[in-house]
Amino acid sequence: MSGGYDRARLEAAVRRGGPTRRLELREEVPSTQDLAFTLAEYGAPDGSAVVADRQTNGRGRLGRDWESPAGMGVWASVILRLPASPPPRPQLLVAATAVAVAEALERAAGVRTTIRWPNDLLVETRKIAGILVETRDWEPAAPLLVLGVGINTGQAGEDFAPELRDLATSVRIEKGTAPDRTSILVALMEALDRWRASLAGGAHAAVEEAFADRAAYLGMTVTLLEGSVPVKGELVSISAVDGVKLRMADGSRRVVRAEHAREMRPV
Ligand code: BTN
Repeated sequence: MSGGYDRARLEAAVRRGGPTRRLELREEVPSTQDLAFTLAEYGAPDGSAVVADRQTNGRGRLGRDWESPAGMGVWASVILRLPASPPPRPQLLVAATAVAVAEALERAAGVRTTIRWPNDLLVETRKIAGILVETRDWEPAAPLLVLGVGINTGQAGEDFAPELRDLATSVRIEKGTAPDRTSILVALMEALDRWRASLAGGAHAAVEEAFADRAAYLGMTVTLLEGSVPVKGELVSISAVDGVKLRMADGSRRVVRAEHAREMRPV
């Protein structure tokens, strides 16, 4: 065991997709994202993973902090080296990751989630997991992304900061017991490899369909921020590539794209 994980099982799960893949398992890092970028610079192959028991400087989307206390969650980053042609579509990879996290939580922890577009995993209205995709010095000839996944597993309600208590949940809160984090990560690696293989085989529609099938708040009136502008409408559809379609109060349709959107909530 290391950092609360079964290293041998994790290594086997990472290497199933490629024998040279590397697993970096640490007790504590500032952010698994940063270590993954460093390992990538030194040549770590596609599918290599960084996992830490604790992050001291975990980050979320849109410049937010991501609380990552020891033993309380799965904090992991995966290096994705993508083929240059056809040009990669990061939105589909993010959607595939969201579906993979949902499947892993269901299989390994018995927790059913929905996806709050663009990439939060919810139990009812509370967030249990988030995804962060980053790139640095993008080279079209050798596209590289680091995919970060944070899954809350062990927190009790009072472990969250007061401002998060109504917004966040964990496997422990949902199931009454903290799950085996190794099993969740093993299931995640398997699902991620499977969905990446589907995408590589051109199954874009299958990813979009699995993503939309799990969409939170469909048919409900929601608010969201488009940049800093609040928008309110009925959620008609979600697509990883095209964005969300809203029916506005005057009957018109409006499409909002993921890169500009945050904080979708039901009214
Ligand atoms: C979000 O919902 O805002 C995304 C959260 C992503 C958190 C994960 S934890 C592992 C990886 N390392 C980080 O610093 N962030 C991501």
